[in-house]
Amino acid sequence: NKAQAWSARFTEPVDELVQRYTASIGFDQRFAMVDIAGSLAHAQMLATQKIISAQDLADIQKGMAQIKSEIEAGEFQWQLALEDVHLNIEARLTQLVGDAGKRLHTGRSRNDQVATDLRLWLRGSVDEIAVTLRSLRTALLDLAEKHAATIMPGHTHLQVAQPITFGHHLMAYYEMFSRDASRLADLRARFNRLPLGAAALAGTTYPIDRMQVARTLGFDGICANSLDAVSDRDFAIEFCAFSAILMMHVSRLSEELVLWLSPRFGFIDLPDRFCTGSSIMPQKKNPDVPELARGKTGRVYGDLISLLTLMKSQPLAYNKDNQEDKEPLFDAVDTVQDTLRIFADMIPHIEVKADVMRSAAEEGFATATDLADYLVKKGLAFRDAHEAVAHAVKACVGRKCMLTDLSLSELRFACGLDSRPELMSDDVFALLTVEGSVNSRQHVGGTAPAQVLAAIEQGRADL
Ligand code: ARG
Repeated sequence: NKAQAWSARFTEPVDELVQRYTASIGFDQRFAMVDIAGSLAHAQMLATQKIISAQDLADIQKGMAQIKSEIEAGEFQWQLALEDVHLNIEARLTQLVGDAGKRLHTGRSRNDQVATDLRLWLRGSVDEIAVTLRSLRTALLDLAEKHAATIMPGHTHLQVAQPITFGHHLMAYYEMFSRDASRLADLRARFNRLPLGAAALAGTTYPIDRMQVARTLGFDGICANSLDAVSDRDFAIEFCAFSAILMMHVSRLSEELVLWLSPRFGFIDLPDRFCTGSSIMPQKKNPDVPELARGKTGRVYGDLISLLTLMKSQPLAYNKDNQEDKEPLFDAVDTVQDTLRIFADMIPHIEVKADVMRSAAEEGFATATDLADYLVKKGLAFRDAHEAVAHAVKACVGRKCMLTDLSLSELRFACGLDSRPELMSDDVFALLTVEGSVNSRQHVGGTAPAQVLAAIEQGRADL
């Protein structure tokens, strides 16, 4: 059996099921292009260092160009017997150019090769995700700007708490996604280092120039320790941790979209193309996208836990366990990329029902805190003011009315403050409106429309 590059050591062919069990070609084909790029950079360095001849390099380049076009055309014959993407490409290269193909693997192992492929591939994905994440952040800024003064109820414990603006609410998500973007940039900077040169684990006896390969492949430097270079996958774990946190944020936004879309809230609508219907209930328009995003958050958490568990307790250096790093990583990349694309596309098309939001903000005594603050400014201690307003709320609950339905003297009486009329005058009613409430929160990070606009401006500057 001459099928495998390593079969000379063996006296019988590998069991068929074992072959299928140990092969990664079913999923690591995704590395084809970065694998070729890595091989070309390696071959160039070998030629510069006179480890292979200029003719060998030319042959390798010619062969790789052909392999590239075969793969792009979907004509490349991937073989399970050749185990993985690396050996498939190398075997075809040797078939095409002969001895030069056999010299490509000089001073290299599949261990440093796959570690390099992973980093190159992930770097490309990270850069695409950074762009999409930026579009999502821009979409949030744009929608927030339109709704800097749109009143909605802010909630705690899913109960109406205080009036806020929809723009302010959206900017909260902008902040979350901005931190995610900075996490992504951090992890990229940490992993953009070249493993090649580590060979199997101990380095190589050839006079290699790792910096040349690093420069060719756009790495910022080289991995400092050969054992670490071939065996650690912390960068993949970091990416999945970034993804898990990002999806956690997406799931919170999704949950809110589902709530806001439900007729009981009725705060927003979504274009039909982001929803689906029911096969039995003709009236339904279901928020599938946010629901699925909420659900897919779970699988991305799973990807993170898979990788953490995969790496747990692995002795140095490379172990075949590491082959299992790819599918969770691919899954996280694909899920995050699709989710971000759909959200970046969907956010600008959220239709806001400002009147429904506003009337919801007027329910539930959302300005009770403003009344307490008013009394404090007139000289009452906050705890006393809190108690006075609580009495008034209780009275209104009993009468099924709002604070603003009371006359000035009724409000004083309800607060138990009829003996101290100096604490309350007619100007209190302007403050009890939802606009009065949001407008009085004038500080950095507050919900007043002017502050929301300032936050948006800052956000645009940071993008
Ligand atoms: N397919 C392998 C992987 O994904 C490549 C490295 C194989 N190395 C080895 N020593 N068997 O990890």
